[in-house]
Amino acid sequence: MSTSAPVTSALVTGASRGIGLGIATRLARRGYALTVAARDPERLEAAAGRLRAAGAPDVQAVAGDIAVEDYLGSLVQTHAARFDKMDALVLNAGVGSAGPLADFHPRRFDKQVTLNLRAPYVLLQQALPLLRKAAAANPAGGAKVVALSSITGVYAEPDLAVYGATKAALMSLVRSVNREEAGDGVCATAVCPAYVDTDMAAYVHERIPAEDMIAVADIVEVVDACLRLSARVTVPEIVMARSRSDGHGA
Ligand SMILES: NC(=O)c1ccc[n+]([C@@H]2O[C@H](COP(=O)([O-])OP(=O)(O)OC[C@H]3O[C@@H](n4cnc5c(N)ncnc54)[C@H](OP(=O)(O)O)[C@@H]3O)[C@@H](O)[C@H]2O)c1
Repeated sequence: MSTSAPVTSALVTGASRGIGLGIATRLARRGYALTVAARDPERLEAAAGRLRAAGAPDVQAVAGDIAVEDYLGSLVQTHAARFDKMDALVLNAGVGSAGPLADFHPRRFDKQVTLNLRAPYVLLQQALPLLRKAAAANPAGGAKVVALSSITGVYAEPDLAVYGATKAALMSLVRSVNREEAGDGVCATAVCPAYVDTDMAAYVHERIPAEDMIAVADIVEVVDACLRLSARVTVPEIVMARSRSDGHGA
C-alpha cells in the first residue's frame, strides 16, 4: 500500500480580493493546498481558479458569512475533511466602519465586534486541534496563525474607535495564543498595517491617494516571512506604518 506525504495546507478568510487574495496567491505559489473563504460565491470561485493556476495543488472554496457561527464550524470541518490538519490559519476577513465615537450606534459596535473579533476567535478555537496536529507533524516549523489586525489597534485614529478596539483585542488574542500554544508549536502573529491600497481603504482616497498607501505586496512579504519562521520563535505583532504619513503612520 502506498502512502502519500501529507499536504501542507492553509485556511485563508477573505481570500476573494484585497490582502487575503494576495496572501492566498503567495501560498499557492509556495505549494500550499488551500481552503479559501468569503461571502460572494462567484468572486470566490474565480479567485480559487486563479489560485489553482498560480500553483496550489488543491483549492476548495467555501463561501459564507463569518457572522454566522454555523458557517464557521462548517468551514473548519470542510478543511479538516479534505486536508486533515492545518499548517496555517490566516484570519484576514474583517470590516471597517467609520464614525465619531460620540454617536457611533451600539448596533454598529456589535457588528464590528462580531466580524472582527468574535469570528476570528471562533475560527481559531475550532481550528486549534488541526493546527496542533500540523505542529506535531512538523516540530521544526510548527503551525502558524496570522491575524490581520491594524495600526489603529496601536494608535488611535479619529472615527475608528470601535474598529481600533476590535483590532487591539485581536492583538491581545494573538498574544494569548502564543502564551497557551506556542510551547507546543502553534505560533501566532498579528499584522497591524496602516491604510493598504484595497477596496476597504478606497473611502479615504480623497485624503490619501492610493499610491501613498501600503501595497498589498508588502503585507504579503511580511505574512510569508512569519509563515517561514521556525517554531522556536514567536513574533506577536508587526506594525506596518505608511512612510508618507504625517501622524503615527496610519
Ligand atoms: N485595507 C486597509 O487599509 C487595511 C488596513 C489595516 C488592516 N486591514 C485589515 O486587513 C483585512 C483585509 O482587508 P482588505 O483591505 O483586504 O479588505 P477588502 O478588500 O474589503 O476584502 C475583504 C475580504 O473579506 C471578505 N469579507 C468581508 N466581509 C465578510 C464577511 N462578513 N464574511 C466573510 N467574508 C467577508 C470579502 O469578500 P466578500 O465581500 O465576498 O465577503 C473580501 O474577500 C481586514 O481584516 C482589515 O481590517 C486592512
